[in-house]
Amino acid sequence: MELRSVIRSVAHYVPERRVTNDDLSTMMETSDAWITERTGIKERRFVEKGTRTSELAERAAREALEKAAWSPQDVDLIVVATLSPDFYFPGVGVILQQRLGCRTIPALDIRAQCSGLVYGLSCVDGYIKSRQAKKVLLVCAEVQSPVLDLTTRGRDMAVLFGDGAGALTIEASDGNDGRGVIDSYLGSDGAGAEVLCMRLPGTASPGFVTAEDIQEARVHPSMDGKLVFKNAVTRLLETASVLLQRNKISPEQIDLIIPHQANMRINEMVRSQLGLPSEKVFNNIQRYGNTTAATIPICMSEAVAEGRLKKGDLVLTIAFGAGFTWGGNLLRW
Ligand code: UT7
Repeated sequence: MELRSVIRSVAHYVPERRVTNDDLSTMMETSDAWITERTGIKERRFVEKGTRTSELAERAAREALEKAAWSPQDVDLIVVATLSPDFYFPGVGVILQQRLGCRTIPALDIRAQCSGLVYGLSCVDGYIKSRQAKKVLLVCAEVQSPVLDLTTRGRDMAVLFGDGAGALTIEASDGNDGRGVIDSYLGSDGAGAEVLCMRLPGTASPGFVTAEDIQEARVHPSMDGKLVFKNAVTRLLETASVLLQRNKISPEQIDLIIPHQANMRINEMVRSQLGLPSEKVFNNIQRYGNTTAATIPICMSEAVAEGRLKKGDLVLTIAFGAGFTWGGNLLRW
């Protein structure tokens, strides 16, 4: 009997502090009109200084555990997806194990950036199908605001990103009700590694990170936005078409597409290419910007709360991000 990975609960946490486009306009030369038109973003959340990624992860995880009626002791695997860990090492997975008071279970981090949720869900599905885990906590959490260059020099990146976390509890099931992960598709192309990256601190840099690096603002992420945009549209459509064709599903049969939230224009292009009405695509980039690995679980959590995602719905997640990495999951909610 093949096991299925069923999502038992989803929760999210975003910091209180709202930063609007007008707020950013007081820090750099930008405008609400530019940001809204190019990205769809109106505001994002930033943590208070000193807040760790694991704190956001813990809040989302505790709520997801509560909704599933699981105790931390029930969990037998933790997977965390983040590009903004508390420390260079170890990862956030082990910190979360300790914060939640879980048993000494395996805990691992996934570094797939904006594809963190889709890679994470595929990885969890593998553990469940190979019977290495039954009850899994998958947490996607990011604290990105401290590494942004919030000056005109860094405006192309700074206006895009926000902080937040989402968590899923995922359980092995006999699959009799048809629910759970049906298929996943993942890809990568390291030729894009330096097209969207944060070089420092890193071993590719002779000084690892020096005072001069900080002074010259080399410690911030950088991106060739247009190249990323083009690749994103292509790979997101590739992901959707592989998952639909491989499972003999037409776009109309999908109840809800939950795309990564990098740019409203990207998601609109994908939606129109797939010929879907806007109510079949869930977006919340307007309120949170790009929270990297956390975008899709935050969307899932809000979609459930708004009644747009219900038990038995056929769902498609699609993501593209730094690496380049991309992929998606087809699942019955
Ligand atoms: O999550 C990972 C995946 N990430 C993505 O998928 C992001 C993909 N890329 C994008 O979303 C878009 O490329 C951006 C939103 C980042 C940029 O939009 P764009 O239409 O590609 O603009 P651009 O970078 O070509 O910049 C156009 C102009 C430039 O001025 P000039 O050279 O035309 O005079 C920029 O200097 O806009 C200027 N600009 C800004 N102006 C006001 C760049 N950033 C800003 C800003 N405010 N924040």
